[in-house]
Amino acid sequence: MNDLVDTLASSGVAITLLALSEADPSRADRGLLDDDERRRAAKLVIPAKRNQFVAARAALRKLLAERTGATPESLEFVYGPHGKPTLARYPEVHFNLSHSRGQAAFAVSERVAVGIDIEDSRRERDYETFASRVFADEERAWLHGGEPRRIRERFYRIWTSKEAYVKALGVGLSLSPQKYAISFDDASLGDDASLGDDASQGRLLRSEFGGLDWNLWTSEPVPGFTMSVCVETMTGTDSGVGVEESHDD
Ligand SMILES: CC(C)(COP(=O)(O)OP(=O)(O)OC[C@H]1O[C@@H](n2cnc3c(N)ncnc32)[C@H](O)[C@@H]1OP(=O)(O)O)[C@@H](O)C(=O)NCCC(=O)NCCS
Repeated sequence: MNDLVDTLASSGVAITLLALSEADPSRADRGLLDDDERRRAAKLVIPAKRNQFVAARAALRKLLAERTGATPESLEFVYGPHGKPTLARYPEVHFNLSHSRGQAAFAVSERVAVGIDIEDSRRERDYETFASRVFADEERAWLHGGEPRRIRERFYRIWTSKEAYVKALGVGLSLSPQKYAISFDDASLGDDASLGDDASQGRLLRSEFGGLDWNLWTSEPVPGFTMSVCVETMTGTDSGVGVEESHDD
């Protein structure tokens, strides 16, 4: 069991990790989607991407059906001004999903707003060019503040945390990425150059969008994938929320 997944369960947030198959989804899974989802799937011309979209949406519907007691195919999504999906008839059920190169992650909570991002962090990038475009000054300072061999880990922590934060808020690209800043304590970096499955907590240093009442966690729940989850702060909670790790094949 992943440490981050356990940590979040105690905050009332259930995380599900799913390896998405590139193969054709079953007819049963395809049948769970609504017209809008089928239209979106049809626009994805690369078969692997289309199949993964269908598999992720079918899995999301099944997870939400367990929470609501509705059937997966009867669930209706509505979309916020920047595309964040919510459930039309169950606004109290918060959820978010993310997928990257065959790996999906879902967060569901009946208590708090959540945002989740997972990225394939094996990919080398031109970190500085990317950071100069979308990281805040404090984030760039932290990115370059450690051993050069750790830059990839630092980069993906910040990137996925930023994505998880804007996904929790549902604001998408409307919030300029330099208008909020996230950091991690250096002590949260272990001895290895990979994050591992230990959960490390990030901090929202500032945000022009509103309060700082958000908790951020990052981990590598699957080797080569960095995942961050942003959770609205709440008080007086206990959890009892279940956790699943599954495969769609
Ligand atoms: C959709 C968005 C929010 C995330 O995109 P992404 O990282 O490419 O994709 P992910 O796989 O993590 O997430 C996609 C899922 O998030 C959900 N989603 C879509 N819009 C959303 C929004 N505004 N808020 C929250 N969730 C959203 C959807 O369920 C979507 O999956 P689906 O279309 O298969 O149902 C992106 O368009 C975006 O606006 N990102 C913010 C950019 C930014 O400022 N980044 C910070 C600097 S690195």
